[in-house]
Amino acid sequence: MGLLGMATSWLVLPDLRPVYAKMSFFHKLMFLVVHLSDRFWKWYNAPVVLGLLYLELRRTLHQKYNLIAVGNAKQYETPAPPLRMEAISGDATLQHNDQPHHGFFGRNTEPQPQKGQILDPHPSAVAAKLLNRKTLQDYGQQFNMIAASWINFMIHDWIDHQENLDEEVEVTAPSSVAAQCPLKSYKFFATKKVAASNNVIGHLNTRTPWWDASVIYGSNKKAEDRVRTFRDGKLKIRPDGWLTSDENDVPVSGDVRNLWVGVSTLQSLFIAEHNAVCDTIKKANPKFNDDEIFQRARLVTAAVLAKIHTIDWTTQLLKNNVLLAAMRVNWYGLLGKRFKDTFGSLPLSLLTGLVGMKKPEDHGVPYSLTEEFTSVYRLHPLLPDKIDIKDIKSSPSQSYTPKKIEEIPMPELLSDKGNDKALKLGLKTLLTSLGHQSAGALTLFNYPTWMRELTPQNEDGTDRPERVDMASLDIYRDRERSVARYNQLRRSMIMPTIKKWEDLTDDVNTLNILRELYGNNVERLDLLVGLLLEKKIPGFAISETAFFIFLIMASRRLEADPLFTSHFNEGYYTKEGLKWVNTTEGLKDVLRRHHPELVGDWMTASSAFSLWNTPPEVPSGIPLYLRWGAGSPAAH
Ligand code: HEM
Repeated sequence: MGLLGMATSWLVLPDLRPVYAKMSFFHKLMFLVVHLSDRFWKWYNAPVVLGLLYLELRRTLHQKYNLIAVGNAKQYETPAPPLRMEAISGDATLQHNDQPHHGFFGRNTEPQPQKGQILDPHPSAVAAKLLNRKTLQDYGQQFNMIAASWINFMIHDWIDHQENLDEEVEVTAPSSVAAQCPLKSYKFFATKKVAASNNVIGHLNTRTPWWDASVIYGSNKKAEDRVRTFRDGKLKIRPDGWLTSDENDVPVSGDVRNLWVGVSTLQSLFIAEHNAVCDTIKKANPKFNDDEIFQRARLVTAAVLAKIHTIDWTTQLLKNNVLLAAMRVNWYGLLGKRFKDTFGSLPLSLLTGLVGMKKPEDHGVPYSLTEEFTSVYRLHPLLPDKIDIKDIKSSPSQSYTPKKIEEIPMPELLSDKGNDKALKLGLKTLLTSLGHQSAGALTLFNYPTWMRELTPQNEDGTDRPERVDMASLDIYRDRERSVARYNQLRRSMIMPTIKKWEDLTDDVNTLNILRELYGNNVERLDLLVGLLLEKKIPGFAISETAFFIFLIMASRRLEADPLFTSHFNEGYYTKEGLKWVNTTEGLKDVLRRHHPELVGDWMTASSAFSLWNTPPEVPSGIPLYLRWGAGSPAAH
């Protein structure tokens, strides 16, 4: 340990001293700022500029210490955004059509094999006693069911672990909790283990991890061909705006596994968006053939999704001025939209954003999404028990609140049944109904009971014969994949750890259950339980621990992708395509384009991800960088 290390290690909590000791001089300095801030003042209550500095230092440290590649260069290589890239550049070296678009999941923290502990405590006991919903808790006005559907829509773009279809596992609930488990036992396929280099075992992603909108276009050529009309670049869609179905009644869309009306609503909306982009590109470039229009419209639509996710969805999920500034800095840079629109990108990404950087940046670790990323996105409590269907034919009221005409239980809205219901209800009714209903809160005792006897699907959208207890399976999967438990994950993410249960909660009932399941050993606490139990930062719908995984990965999805950096230009996107991306600031803009009457009649909210009848945010008179973190992040 150098001089700085010796002089300062007493400032560092004991269990972070080993990692601190290994840091370089500059990283030690950065770490001290971050660590002392974690301990003695809170970055999210600070002035925005200091909060931004904290997040920048923390992200830099995570980029150094929390990006772990799995496999050797050839093996872990996740094909560069294949179809969309090669088709435009004509560079066959970028083309990987002959390979499945699988890459290994990377890691943010060292694997923690759980041999002998995979059923300890029993996942079904954790599910029954700590996860199972008692009464629905929701997010009130902050976060609606379009927001919940959105993140599921994104998951269908990014990740799905490949299973080993030759290895079936059965989990049987212990007799002590069997009465509280809708399924006494359930069967599923083990995650496929694939030998990577250096004796590392890895897991494969069946979806392309790039932000390439594969939820609409598919993760391989066959899926892409299935959705295309091969005329003017367009995708297949019914005249009423809903997804078409194939001869087996499976919806025609890029990803069809475990579909429900929330995801299909967004698939339908963004197919319309793609087709509208095609019209604009064709009009300006009449000589382009079908493929030239398609590839460019795909780039534009994927960028619209990435932008909405970055500056609209995330700022509703994490309602705090530091975050509002940080997400806008990721897209537009510190100098803001007006500067970037006028002068373009400067060499320093902090000034003009990650998007449009001259070169992609992977921080020395080839791009992949990670095991921990999967774990912190296990957000199934967002789902309610039923959807309230609203009457959009009634005359709009002053409160912008349509009347409820029907309640449909969630299981009726999944799979074929859900698709049939959607065809009857129509896209506009579904959008409005989801927009006016709050999402379930990410907390303990709020995991939907109906998901504990869920029929999962195969990749081709067909139902499997065996039902699963998703709450129990979520716990099992993290352990099976050697993801660190809660406290170890925090330690590895250079966050202060918990020492006793009371550090997480003072609720006596919860404390009793924690002791019953985990004894007094806080190291055993499952990651998912810790994430749901952790006290939330005011305005945050997710835990701070989950947020720090997002902090690395959300930036990485943009900065590591050539199509959001070196190739984010007119040559690839066309002039009209770039303008389309640059003038779309949120989901509300997309809705206004395709369903203006819904926005006019039923939405007062500034963001389409908050309850639609929420009053619009009043612009703050104070410039964003002069505000404090906490407090209402009024419109910019
Ligand atoms: C009705 C809606 C949903 C259904 C039917 C559903 C169903 C499933 C199923 C069957 C799995 C695979 C379980 C396994 O074998 O491990 C899964 C995994 C997962 N789900 Fe959901 N889910 C839904 C909504 C959501 C939502 C709203 C999110 C929020 C982000 C989400 C995030 C995930 C994640 C991160 C995984 C793990 C993927 C992986 O293992 O690679 N799901 N879901």
